[in-house]
Amino acid sequence: MPSSGPFELPNHVQSIVRPLSKRLVVNRRGSTVWDVQTAAGRFAVKLGYRSQTHAWTALAPAREAAVLRQLIGPDGIHCGEWEEGTWSAQPWHEGQSLFTLWEPHRQAGGQAAPNLAEALSCALALADLHDAGWVHGDVQPNHFVIGPTRTTLIDLALAQGGAVPKSFDFSYRGCLVHYEAPEISQSVLETGTAVPTVEADVYALGASFFISATGWRHVSYPDDASREDQRQAIVVQPHRRITVPGSLGKLIEQMMRRNPADRPTSEEVCAELRRAFPG
Ligand SMILES: Nc1ncnc2c1ncn2[C@@H]1O[C@H](COP(=O)(O)OP(=O)(O)OP(=O)(O)O)[C@@H](O)[C@H]1O
Ligand SMILES: [Mg+2]
Repeated sequence: MPSSGPFELPNHVQSIVRPLSKRLVVNRRGSTVWDVQTAAGRFAVKLGYRSQTHAWTALAPAREAAVLRQLIGPDGIHCGEWEEGTWSAQPWHEGQSLFTLWEPHRQAGGQAAPNLAEALSCALALADLHDAGWVHGDVQPNHFVIGPTRTTLIDLALAQGGAVPKSFDFSYRGCLVHYEAPEISQSVLETGTAVPTVEADVYALGASFFISATGWRHVSYPDDASREDQRQAIVVQPHRRITVPGSLGKLIEQMMRRNPADRPTSEEVCAELRRAFPG
């Protein structure tokens, strides 16, 4: 039975990161994340370990570090191994997640029109990644950190677009199902793996806008349904009607079309949001 954390920062990690103080952010699904203050700035430090259901979560921090080094350069990115798997440190981004920021819309029953400037900042972060030749593969509302000056798309552990050392690479087995495009769910059900795509990222961004604005998942399935049954529902069941008012609702419908070729690109999503929110 794998251990379940949360795990303390091992001594050899502390001697590299040199924390002055730290706060536990989250421990779940094979990952303990710390918010660490150091003399060199604030860092997100992740310890990956085998989860109850997956072995790849132990490799995820080192894989993400390899992706980040290619995307933003080596500064402030550290990684290595520890007893239970791999670990990484990356610069901390100030801000709140899309899901947290749109809580008032959910409280208001999803009737109020969400903040289009925030939606646009998320779409721009995704479009920048696509423009750089990468696919994210795990777009979800908690992975957009919306700060005072910029929005960052975090958690690049599953991203594809460049070379990753074989020793900590692993095959893509889909993302959090609440945001998974039907073609990805179908492929995971049929073969156990899938190929992440820009089209599936756009679908996941649409599902992220939808759940953040309304609290609803894109497809109805019971909380306790198995992962397989959830994916089955995504493939065969009609998807929920998009009830978000105004131009954002129409855009979400397009982003979540079943046929990937019918979805707008992330660039087109940005252009549409700019039209709706010229400010
Ligand atoms: N660079 C960062 N800047 C700010 N917050 C971060 C950063 N990295 C991670 N976090 C915070 O930690 C949380 C978990 O991080 P992340 O999603 O990258 O890890 P994970 O191992 O995939 O965990 P989970 O399974 O919970 O998604 C994020 O939702 C965010 O709140
Ligand atoms: Mg994550």
